[in-house]
Amino acid sequence: MNTISFIGAGNVAFRMAIAFQEKGYIIPTVWNRSRDKAVKITRALNSNLSAYTAHNAAQAGNYTPVPTGTPSISTLSFEDLLESDMVIIAVSDDAISSVAESFSLAMKNAIASGNTNSLPICVHTSGATPLDALSPLKELGCQCGVLYPVMTLSRSKNVNFKDVPFLLEGSDEKALKALKGVCDTLGSEYYVCDSSKRLKMHTAAVFSCNFTNYLLSLAFEVAGDAHSLLLPATLEMIRKSFLQSPKMALTGPAKRGDMKTIEKHLELLESLGMKEHADIYRTITENIITRTKQ
Ligand SMILES: NC(=O)c1ccc[n+]([C@@H]2O[C@H](COP(=O)([O-])OP(=O)(O)OC[C@H]3O[C@@H](n4cnc5c(N)ncnc54)[C@H](OP(=O)(O)O)[C@@H]3O)[C@@H](O)[C@H]2O)c1
Repeated sequence: MNTISFIGAGNVAFRMAIAFQEKGYIIPTVWNRSRDKAVKITRALNSNLSAYTAHNAAQAGNYTPVPTGTPSISTLSFEDLLESDMVIIAVSDDAISSVAESFSLAMKNAIASGNTNSLPICVHTSGATPLDALSPLKELGCQCGVLYPVMTLSRSKNVNFKDVPFLLEGSDEKALKALKGVCDTLGSEYYVCDSSKRLKMHTAAVFSCNFTNYLLSLAFEVAGDAHSLLLPATLEMIRKSFLQSPKMALTGPAKRGDMKTIEKHLELLESLGMKEHADIYRTITENIITRTKQ
């Protein structure tokens, strides 16, 4: 399997497309409902391709192979995806079912008009969406699966996919084998699990990742320009929580029961007009005090 196309052109499609290309996969096509975002991905892919081609030419006779291949195109037509071995549907969770439905309809029409390409393996990348969301594609005869990266991915920040664990699910052994092959090529850890286990991990990741991000935004607003001073303590708390346990790693006024300090913090936040910050501070403090007593 060496061609992987994308439906969707957001953070995940961008990061995966670049990472897959760097590992030698050809990314023939990127479909997105608004073309400009798909063009941004294909432009990045094609400029990488030119760089690789130049590198290979310069190293002729004594070179480490790096990706080469056909340029990527952006498209508004699902039919352009039909020559791919795998199609990754990386759209918002709520859009996965309707996109799967439209894509299967387009393939049905293409087959009726004489298209003889074999059907691609179709996968989505969502933690919270069951494999069943792809059922229109499965009913058409496609092998289907899930390739969920347990990682925060942003277009603006490169990640090393060696550090990204994946949760995999497949409609059958062939789909699962293809997904394992992709993870092996990326050098990524993977675990096979069903949709309900994946939903549980995704819920946990919202706490560990998205809520931590929200709390950091509150902390940055309180600290102002000095927020970078919080980095060492924050990293140490995360490291200690994973090495020991969150309970053992916890320090601070709520754990100690320093009620006067807690009152001073709340007065400060209220005097600064930071109502949202004070509300969250109060709620979390009460929960920590309750848990500490248990
Ligand atoms: N980002 C992460 O950290 C992360 C990590 C693991 C898994 N995931 C999963 O990966 C998937 C994509 O996430 P993302 O972060 O890449 O999202 P994103 O950056 O917000 O991009 C969403 C993509 O979905 C498209 N889209 C939204 N509604 C649509 C509709 N009704 N019909 C067709 N296309 C639609 C958007 O098209 P437009 O450009 O036209 O708006 C865009 O291409 C989601 O299932 C998410 O749960 C994300």
